Amino acid sequence: MNLEIFDTYEILSYNVAEQIISAIIKKPEALICLAAGDTPKRSYEMLVQELKARKIDYGKVHFIGLDEWIGISPENPGSCQFFLRQTLLSPLEINAENIHLFNAMAEDIHKECEKMDNIIEQLGGIDLIVVGIGMNGHIGFNEPGVSWNKNSHIANLDEVTQKVGQKYFSTQTQLTQGITIGLKQLLNAKTALLLANGLKKASIIKKALEEEMTENIPASIFQKHANGLVFLDRESSSGLS
Ligand code: PGA
Repeated sequence: MNLEIFDTYEILSYNVAEQIISAIIKKPEALICLAAGDTPKRSYEMLVQELKARKIDYGKVHFIGLDEWIGISPENPGSCQFFLRQTLLSPLEINAENIHLFNAMAEDIHKECEKMDNIIEQLGGIDLIVVGIGMNGHIGFNEPGVSWNKNSHIANLDEVTQKVGQKYFSTQTQLTQGITIGLKQLLNAKTALLLANGLKKASIIKKALEEEMTENIPASIFQKHANGLVFLDRESSSGLS
């Protein structure tokens, strides 16, 4: 695991964008899995700007969405899909066949997992996965206690996730289950990048990175990722010794 600490959220975001750009330049047909959420928002804005300004050819890149709230429509601004389309996929005008997002409204939600696992396999595995960390240490909807040996799956959401998740919605929304890429797929990704910013993440970052690895803190899996990168701003790193 490689840890880098940046002074501000802005500098952190710039470096995340550069990491994604490097992956695209190195492999123009890369498979990139991206989280939604507050943490990567600025990185994606910078990514869009830089890809366009530097006229980088990203037309062959395939994008996967890390997770989704089950039962929440893609038109709902709180959904992960809405966020990824609005921040990144639409401004970049990515072709529909290069976009792979969980359909959280599907009648057979388990088929969605199968579909995603097959896509990842067919495209030769994930080249870069960019994730945030939840207040309970989750990654995507890999909630505390989840096995590290799982591919895409349905998760019952932890109480913390149900509560914190309200921040993405304008009205009180029932959030009980999620669909997510699994930690096995994160471990198998050629590069995995974990991001955090802000003081509120300092305590969970300390637990994930400095305490013993445990399935109760899914993000602690980064301690054993062969090519794991952790990018923090100064505030979120402030608990580290
Ligand atoms: P956030 O979410 O980036 O909005 O803080 C992180 C997460 O829950 O994984």
